[in-house]
Amino acid sequence: MKQYYSDYLQLDRILNAQKPVSAEHGTEAHDEMLFIIMHQVYELWFKQILHELSDVLSTFGRDRIDEKQVGIAVSRLLRITEIQKVLVDQLSVIETMTSLDFLEFRQLLAPASGFQSVQFRVIENKLGVLPEQRMRYDKQPYYAHVTPDHQEVIREAEESRSLFDLIESWLERTPYVEFEGFNFWESYRQAVDQHFQVDRDIIHANDRWSDEEKEVQLKEVAGNAAHFSAVFDKEKHEALIEKGRWRLSHRATVAALLIHLYRDEPILHLPYRLLTVLVDMDEWFTTWRYRHALMVHRMIGTKVGTGGSVGYQYLRSTVEKHKVFTDLFNLSTFLIPRSALPPLPDDVQQTLGFFGDRAK
Ligand code: HEM
Repeated sequence: MKQYYSDYLQLDRILNAQKPVSAEHGTEAHDEMLFIIMHQVYELWFKQILHELSDVLSTFGRDRIDEKQVGIAVSRLLRITEIQKVLVDQLSVIETMTSLDFLEFRQLLAPASGFQSVQFRVIENKLGVLPEQRMRYDKQPYYAHVTPDHQEVIREAEESRSLFDLIESWLERTPYVEFEGFNFWESYRQAVDQHFQVDRDIIHANDRWSDEEKEVQLKEVAGNAAHFSAVFDKEKHEALIEKGRWRLSHRATVAALLIHLYRDEPILHLPYRLLTVLVDMDEWFTTWRYRHALMVHRMIGTKVGTGGSVGYQYLRSTVEKHKVFTDLFNLSTFLIPRSALPPLPDDVQQTLGFFGDRAK
């Protein structure tokens, strides 16, 4: 059968799916069409994000993942970040509606709200936002405001292994952390000690600082060193996890750090891109949450939302609280300059190089 543009895209259904409620109440509010279309467009993009995310989840859900699959997963995630840029950008379109225009139909929307967006919750859960991480809302679970069918979909996503879980397992399986005869962690600890000693020497040698100023600087170095030791020491790391100050397991953290530090080695380059795109994705969602909160602030001030939350203040607090890959952001605390990195033994370097290099 010959395809026909309108049928293929089911435009009859899509283009007839905008029904302003203000029209049913007498006079159609001009801007309600924009309000509806904006939300629909977002939901379509959420669908595409979920399509990409599901594929990435199934890749990392496998027991064995080869480089090619990691490459495909990175390109899927990169596509998500491009969509996210559009999501942030198009908030300015809804901002062409003024708060007075919005008032023409706002009261007709309650109790419906973006808070009930099932796809948004599924994305959050599939990425790895934890139930205990979520802002309490109306003293009820976050999914209490959707239908039982929708609750099931959201709970199912909450209970399945998230991207965070799968990436953690993948990092834990990284074979590069301990080579025969070369323990990366031990070498790194020594390099870090040396690095801090250099910092202390620089402080002591600075004639422009008074003794008090030097003491302040030395305290700063001591603070950083203590921070490092929490990562080096498995037990201290466990304690951080228990206190909710770190989420990624010790082994996964070590692997992520190794990947960051030796990213220039060909074999680690793709894993490095993967870790980077995860941080990008989290950053774009954080940016969206913040931009949406600001847009809401200018649109409704400090009024409560149609969904019943405190509105702007609620949305502001989700900005930081709903991040997933915070530990990957925090890894930068533990980086030392390339010049201070422990050199990799020749055989390790060869293992991390391309096969072609190994033949040389
Ligand atoms: C005039 C424009 C908008 C206003 C005034 C607005 C307002 C709000 C408010 C006040 C909330 C908090 C829940 C509540 O009490 O209702 C909320 C949540 C939300 N909105 Fe909007 N919104 C607007 C546009 C959009 C658009 C275009 C989207 C795109 C899908 C969207 C998606 C969401 C989502 C996903 C949430 C849940 C956020 C969370 O709980 O973390 N909103 N919105």
